[in-house]
Amino acid sequence: MELQSLKDIAKQMMAGNKGLLAMDESTSTCNKRFEALNIPQTEEYRRKYRELIVTTPKLEEAISGAILFDETIRQSTANGKLFIDILKEKGIIPGIKVDEGAINMDGFPGEKITEGLDNLHNRLTEYYKLGARFAKWRAVITIGNNAPTSGSIKANAFLLARYAIICQEVGIVPIVEPEVLMDGNHSLKACADVTNEVLHTLFNQLYQQRVNFEGMILKPNMIVPGLESPQQDNADAVADATINCFLRCVPASVPGIAFLSGGQSPELASERLNAMHVRFKDKMPWALTFSYSRAVQQPCLEKWNGKDENVAEAQRLLYERAHINTIARDGKYTPELEHQMA
Ligand code: 13P
Repeated sequence: MELQSLKDIAKQMMAGNKGLLAMDESTSTCNKRFEALNIPQTEEYRRKYRELIVTTPKLEEAISGAILFDETIRQSTANGKLFIDILKEKGIIPGIKVDEGAINMDGFPGEKITEGLDNLHNRLTEYYKLGARFAKWRAVITIGNNAPTSGSIKANAFLLARYAIICQEVGIVPIVEPEVLMDGNHSLKACADVTNEVLHTLFNQLYQQRVNFEGMILKPNMIVPGLESPQQDNADAVADATINCFLRCVPASVPGIAFLSGGQSPELASERLNAMHVRFKDKMPWALTFSYSRAVQQPCLEKWNGKDENVAEAQRLLYERAHINTIARDGKYTPELEHQMA
C-alpha cells in the first residue's frame, strides 16, 4: 500500500471548498429517475445525460471528484471523447462505484446487505488502469420495527471494511458509505442513536481489517428526522446532532467526510451543511463537504428532460447547485441565495 499516494488523493478530493459529485446511479436507478420524467430509458439517453454533466462549464470550480458507474466510465461524448478524459482535463478526479447494490438480507426481514466483494481486487485493478483514483461502496441501514439489528450492522460494516482494504491495496481511496435511510417516521434522536451505533461498529471493523484511516473518506448520512416524522427539526438541531455524533465516533485521522443527500431537498442539503460549518467551524478535525447526487442533479435533470435544446440551461442549474454547496462549505449560505440564483 502506497499510503502517501492515498493521502494525496484524499487531500485533493477534499480541497478548498469543493465537493464530490455522485453521478454513479446504477442503470436501474438512473432509469427510475428518467421514467419519473418520461425520459427514454436507453443507454443512449443515459450517455447523453452524463455527457451533459461532464461538459458543464465551470464544473471544476465546484467539484473536485466525480463518482462514475461502470457503464459511464467506458462512455464517450458524441464526438468520441471519453468522459474520463474530459474529467481529467478539468482536474476532476474520476471515481467509481464498485458495490453491486443492496439486496434483501437473508435471515433479517426488512434489512439490506450489499453485494460486490467477489473478484473486487481484479475489478479495482482494471478501474485503476482506466483512470479511477477513488471508489465507493454503499451500505444501507434501515430504521424500522426491530431494525436495525446488530447482525445487519456488523455484516454491513465488515463488508465495507473488506472493500476498503482491497481498495487501498490497489492504490484507490475508498469512500466508505454507511447510509442510515431517512424513510420512516422516526425522530432525530432515533437517527442519532442508530448512526452512533453504525459508526462505532464501522470504525471497529475498519481497524480490524487494517484499513488506514488517513487514506479513506467517510460518506455518511446527516442525522435527520425520518421523512414522515411529525417533528422536522431545524438546520441548527441537525448540525448539532450530526457533528456531535461524528466527534464521538469518527477518528481525527480520517481526512474527510462527504455527505450523501439521501432524499433531502437541494435547499435543505445546502442549509444543513452550512449550519455545520457555522456552528463547528474550528472544532472539526476533518474536512466536511458534500457528495450529493439528487440534491445537486435533480433541478438539472428536470430542466433537461431528455431534450437537446435544454442542455445549456440544465448545465447552468447543475453548476449553480454545486456552487451553492461550496458557499455552504464556507459557512456563507443564506436562503436568499436561492432566489438570486434562480
Ligand atoms: P444521494 O445524494 O442522492 O443520496 O446520492 C448519494 C449517493 O452517492 C448514494 O450512494
